[in-house]
Amino acid sequence: MNPTARFAPSVAEVDFPPAFTWGVATSSYQIEGAVAEDGRTPSIWDTFCRVPGAVANGDNGDVACDHYHRMPEDVALIKSLGVDAYRFSVAWPRVQPGGRGPANPAGLAFYDRMVDELLTAGIDPWVTLYHWDLPQELEDAGGWPARDTAYRFADYSMLVFDKLQDRVDTFSTLNEPWCSAWLGYQVGVHAPGRRDHDAAISAVHHLLLGHGLATQAMRAAETRPHTYGITLNMGTADPASDSAADRDAARRADGMGTRIYLDPLRYGRYPADIVADLAQRGSAFPVQDGDLEIISTPFEVLGVNFYFGQNFAGTDEQGRTHDENGEPVVRSILPDTPRTAMDWPITPERFTQLLVRLHRDYPGLPLVITENGAAFADEVAADGTVRDDDRTEYLATHLAAVADARAQGADVRGYFAWSLLDNFEWAYGYAKRFGIVHVDYDTQQRTPKQSALWLRDTIARIRS
Ligand code: FCB
Repeated sequence: MNPTARFAPSVAEVDFPPAFTWGVATSSYQIEGAVAEDGRTPSIWDTFCRVPGAVANGDNGDVACDHYHRMPEDVALIKSLGVDAYRFSVAWPRVQPGGRGPANPAGLAFYDRMVDELLTAGIDPWVTLYHWDLPQELEDAGGWPARDTAYRFADYSMLVFDKLQDRVDTFSTLNEPWCSAWLGYQVGVHAPGRRDHDAAISAVHHLLLGHGLATQAMRAAETRPHTYGITLNMGTADPASDSAADRDAARRADGMGTRIYLDPLRYGRYPADIVADLAQRGSAFPVQDGDLEIISTPFEVLGVNFYFGQNFAGTDEQGRTHDENGEPVVRSILPDTPRTAMDWPITPERFTQLLVRLHRDYPGLPLVITENGAAFADEVAADGTVRDDDRTEYLATHLAAVADARAQGADVRGYFAWSLLDNFEWAYGYAKRFGIVHVDYDTQQRTPKQSALWLRDTIARIRS
């Protein structure tokens, strides 16, 4: 059966209101290239890519999709998809080389031109201020585990805001602080590749502090009202069984993955159970007086990045409840479903579950899906088309899941597909393709895949 035919009707039938925002998303380091042009200095990702074995195939973002030189062509491509909005990120080391001091006019000018190009095309620019490209000098000075980085981030944010606030309505501070803190400082599979638990816990707090400082500074300087937000990656953390150990593992996973971000952001406190868990191992968030008031400063939209849900067990494969360091086991067990090329399970029903849960536990916070999508091993057919039915099915089932959540009361106001283009997928390099538009990295030719055409037609049908 053709999966497109199977799932497309359910999307067309549901009620996405006219004001629902349809968009596509990218990030600076993943597409721009031009890493040494117009005054840009290295970010932690430029450095990390040079570490042998850190990135698959030794890939790096030096050229990526060459978007820096092809921006007008890419904006035209976005327009051809019929979307309302484009979510992109600003490269900190382009705008403020070295992470301190005045703005670099040439770096800012690129985003200035892009905003104008988008507005001329009738596309709403959604700015993300930080999608992981920390200036290397700030990492050398301690990185996110150092408190000063939060203040540096707020200063940098104001350089961008001052230039763009007259034309940009939506500013999002951070993309996925969990990845910055956890993958970057605890697991070490993302830049800067450190493996230090306490550093990761400090990074969480300083990322959140940076978000709050930047949001307050932007709001204080605005000459007209804006929409401020932050984007978190979230899944679902269900216990693998009803055992006490598995339920406790799911609690820990949910606490470390979702609640340590959303509880301080919304309620001005870290979750008590996680604070107690950390105390058990002699660790704590480095909170100073007034921090939680800053972190819980109001914002208008929560960006949700969803890829899959997980189950958690409190025992390892040998049935042990603690690891060699005496820490409780929190073992991910992926749901038994078909997988994407990332080996991520395909779990649209968990998407509904997550959105309904956010609505229940953090009410009154408008949600926008800022990323959702899938990597598959695409093949370019002899006629040049890319028939990515698997990706189309993924998008269709996940849009239906959003519609289900809306029907259950979740206030979801928009959906951005990840990603506009195949791009540099972090530690996986160019091996994993998430684009709805295919990129031939030898020629830089862009070819909309079937999924892009399906999305375009679906938006048009829903709106007709
Ligand atoms: C998210 C990132 C994004 C992309 C997707 C697949 O975690 O925000 O840059 O890598 O995953």
